[in-house]
Amino acid sequence: MLRKFSDQELVEVYSKCIQENLGDDFRFILENELEQRKLGFTAHKELNPLTFGKSNLDFYQLVKYSLDSYFVLQDHKVIYVNQAGFDLLGLQYPEQIIGELFHRFLHPDYHYSIGNQLESVLRGEASELMEQRMVRADGELIDVEVMLAPYHMEQQRLAQVIVRNITQRKLTERRLHNLEKLSSIGQMAAGIAHEVRNPLTAVKGFVQLLEKELNHSYLPVIVDELDNAIKTLNNLLQVAKPDLNNEPDVSIHLCSELESLIFLFQEKLYKVTVHKLFSDTDREIRGKKNLILKAFFNLLKNAIEAIDGKGEITIEHFFKNDMVHIKISDTGKGIPASKIRLLGTPFFTTKDDGIGMGLTQVFTTIHEHGGHIHVESHEGKGTVFHIQLPA
Ligand SMILES: Nc1ncnc2c1ncn2[C@@H]1O[C@H](COP(=O)(O)OP(=O)(O)OP(=O)(O)O)[C@@H](O)[C@H]1O
Ligand SMILES: [Mg+2]
Repeated sequence: MLRKFSDQELVEVYSKCIQENLGDDFRFILENELEQRKLGFTAHKELNPLTFGKSNLDFYQLVKYSLDSYFVLQDHKVIYVNQAGFDLLGLQYPEQIIGELFHRFLHPDYHYSIGNQLESVLRGEASELMEQRMVRADGELIDVEVMLAPYHMEQQRLAQVIVRNITQRKLTERRLHNLEKLSSIGQMAAGIAHEVRNPLTAVKGFVQLLEKELNHSYLPVIVDELDNAIKTLNNLLQVAKPDLNNEPDVSIHLCSELESLIFLFQEKLYKVTVHKLFSDTDREIRGKKNLILKAFFNLLKNAIEAIDGKGEITIEHFFKNDMVHIKISDTGKGIPASKIRLLGTPFFTTKDDGIGMGLTQVFTTIHEHGGHIHVESHEGKGTVFHIQLPA
């Protein structure tokens, strides 16, 4: 903390009383100076402090309320943590951290590297910016960026640790990585589909020519099967390489479109009850209508197929934080936790007659429209697909 010591000099003061004596600047500095001597500290001279009118910049408050988390360590133990650090770790009482080893709050994978870095910082060497994971009081893991620096106080060499929460950034990076993975798999699949579809179309043409000359009962079956194969490949091509530029962006009133989509499943609805919980019904989104409708069709189809016998599907529609949210919940058989990460991968299916392209189309379309999709599922209980699209 910087305070005026005399007309010419400014001193940097480290003392608890500073905080309690924020009244009269001038008098209180002298008091602090005396207090420091009693405590055995020396005031550091500062040549160019920041001043605002009559006051100097209060560095103690700056650190205390800094948006970055700030820890001071002595022998690897925490002797100071600011408010942001306290909140970052979800702590309730200072005793949970003061006097504890800093390692305790790091994921075990990083104990070794932080120990090394601390040692070199205490020797006065510079530290690198490190990405690590910390463990909050409630056990949740968070991604953080950590920077260490030496902190000298009298004869003591302490370490200051500045921590920044990067969980959100990491999440976005992982999402982008998955998207890239998905799009490269998609491109590969599209390439193969294209190569296979052309000869199949040629074979179909020749079989149709043969049909005219030869009256054999196998020929129509061959044409039907070839048609199925070509249809599948066309589907794959459309999903893997959607021709987004061909379809214009239009306003889509999702509530009424969802009503029409439900209607398409009429013949299945004798066993499945559909609940509609629609609010903010006047909201609209913008996008490629056919792709969006196909995505919701695929989600509803999956929900119905997941229900053996009788069951329920709930469709929620609401507006929150500039996004239209749609939740499609079913009381179907659910998805095992080990399979959740495979959802959206082309050709992943657990159905005898499934192709495994439905969710690939859903994920691609929602992401292409700047939206998010989140799946929650409990085996034997049901699944919720939560979609958010910019309104
Ligand atoms: N609501 C759901 N409940 C349970 N499992 C689901 C649900 N939605 C998707 N799945 C699982 O995800 C897999 C992949 O779904 P996806 O829609 O991509 O392909 P599919 O339905 O098997 O075939 P298709 O390409 O014909 O849609 C399904 O086979 C199923 O195991
Ligand atoms: Mg499907």
